[in-house]
Amino acid sequence: MFRIDRNLTADELDKTLRADVAEGLTSSPKSLPPKWFYDERGSVLFEEITGLPEYYPTRAERAILEHRSDEIAEAADAAALIELGSGSGVKTRLLLDAMSRHGTLERFVPVDVSGDFLASSARPVADDYPGLDVHAVVGDFEHHLGLLPVGGEGGRRLLAVLGSTIGNQEPAARALFLRDIHDTLAPGDSLLLGADLVKDPERLVAAYDDSQGVTAAFNRNVLSVIDHRLGGDLDPDDFDHVALWDPENEWIEMRLRARRRLRAHIRDLDLEVDFAEGEEMRTEISAKFRREGLSAELDRAGFDLAHWWTDPNGDFALGLATVR
Ligand code: SAH
Ligand code: AVI
Repeated sequence: MFRIDRNLTADELDKTLRADVAEGLTSSPKSLPPKWFYDERGSVLFEEITGLPEYYPTRAERAILEHRSDEIAEAADAAALIELGSGSGVKTRLLLDAMSRHGTLERFVPVDVSGDFLASSARPVADDYPGLDVHAVVGDFEHHLGLLPVGGEGGRRLLAVLGSTIGNQEPAARALFLRDIHDTLAPGDSLLLGADLVKDPERLVAAYDDSQGVTAAFNRNVLSVIDHRLGGDLDPDDFDHVALWDPENEWIEMRLRARRRLRAHIRDLDLEVDFAEGEEMRTEISAKFRREGLSAELDRAGFDLAHWWTDPNGDFALGLATVR
């Protein structure tokens, strides 16, 4: 069975995009939230990134899931899998398979802001898992957790945030997000978090500045989204892709750097924006984690970290936390 709810209609999407772009492009320094990378093209580009030789996180997380999904299913003992930022859901199938084998799985709730991409990835899940109630939700996980069809009446829940998507939020937003997840769940429910780990900065930077330029295209896509949805005239070719490691904050920062002095117009915002030559605008942070740090963040949000699995190389971790 397949259903899709749209908590974010095209109108609402435009409204929040408008507010974010108005704020981000008039701030100093300029910045844009990473969720706007993900229109259909952005989602496809992200999938391409996951197959790049330099981008190890997806392969590392898949390796952990291949080995540990049965343990996860056993520990979570859940009737529902809720996945925030589900994307293509390729790795999710490993969890769905294990939870089916465990014998408790009834319901799958994938949530993503990228609506058409979500529909095309979640519908086949309903076909491939007969008897599974697939209830997809187009929404913003930073604002719509309260609207999710995740009622606890139907048994325990496992809520997954894979891919280290949690790392794309700043620490303060992440703390609120984890607290929100905690308040959505109940004692007995579990949270499965994918977390990319601190490592050699050279490897990290290469993962965000690949030799084929796919990450650069993904980064610039946010400008196309603004042009397309808000009538902007930002030319992606006017901007260079920048990826750098911030050792103090232990995060990768992606930026777009203006190649020349330019003035852009965003018609729907009635906004003119000036960029100086070389001016950099932040488009994403991607925090890298250590076990102690994440365990403390989880603790502050009301979770106990019960399991911590890494791939053989120690590049990536999956943490399973229980609600206190
Ligand atoms: N979980 C997948 C995809 C990670 S990419 C994986 O591990 O490969 C991040 C996903 O989160 C994208 O599909 C993007 O559309 C979604 N996303 C980003 N910000 C979001 C938000 N605020 N609300 C809902 N989905 C969001
Ligand atoms: C989705 N998210 C965890 C990715 C990351 O690695 O931070 C997005 C990404 N940005 C550049 N490459 C991939």
